[in-house]
Amino acid sequence: MNSQIKIGGRLKTLPRLGVNIDHIATVRNARGGEHPDPVAGAWAAIQAGADGITAHLREDRRHIRDDDLERLQALCSNEKIPLNMEMAATDEMRDIAIRLKPYAVCIVPEKREERTTEGGLDVAGQLNRLVPIITALNEVGSRVSLFIEAVTHQIEAAARTDAKVVEFHTGAYAHALDRQDKAEAAVILTALKDGAKLAHALGLEVHFGHGLTFDNVAPIAAIPEGMELNIGHFIIGEAIFIGLEAAIGEMRFLATEARTT
Ligand code: PXP
Repeated sequence: MNSQIKIGGRLKTLPRLGVNIDHIATVRNARGGEHPDPVAGAWAAIQAGADGITAHLREDRRHIRDDDLERLQALCSNEKIPLNMEMAATDEMRDIAIRLKPYAVCIVPEKREERTTEGGLDVAGQLNRLVPIITALNEVGSRVSLFIEAVTHQIEAAARTDAKVVEFHTGAYAHALDRQDKAEAAVILTALKDGAKLAHALGLEVHFGHGLTFDNVAPIAAIPEGMELNIGHFIIGEAIFIGLEAAIGEMRFLATEARTT
């Protein structure tokens, strides 16, 4: 459920904040062993006000492992917090998701050699592969989201499936700002805004994620159709300096401020 605030007589819906805890597992795996435990990190993120926990079970298990995901599902159902499992559209991942039944599943493209998820899913070109997976996930009650670029043909293709949500990849926007290329960032931001309008009009819930930071989150959080932000690397990295509670609190403050001013 999204919180709402009345500002100047108008009700504003605030985006939920999903915290991706993958990189707690990255630090753990750098040494082997059990510390730091991403499930303990998820618990701390929930205490700090995360609306949901996101975790990506990659095919190479480079951060989150199968047992982490099982323990995350147990934690989230205990705490009544949604678990959003990110996964590639493979038979192995489909079977794991069907067994675990997370609240949400975000289908992402995955290449073994990439450092992180680069680019969105080609829904239009992969309908035959995706539709049966989406159907199977719907049947066990998981809410399916497709991680796509904000381009018309991919949004329209997503709307032809039974997925309820699209998550727009904000990586290109974030990278343009990292390069100080404000003109390129503005073009991508316009595409994200237009994409959000179109997806909403087609009945899809809109989420945003990837590369979001304190410095770049406001224009994304301000997009009125956006119902959820999924943020990981920056929050976990910033927690080293200011703690998880402060990092989550500040991200939420910036998102709320952007949506309400
Ligand atoms: N959303 C999706 C679908 C992702 O794949 C990722 C990265 O795993 C994120 C959000 C979070 O991105 P970041 O770690 O850059 O905040």
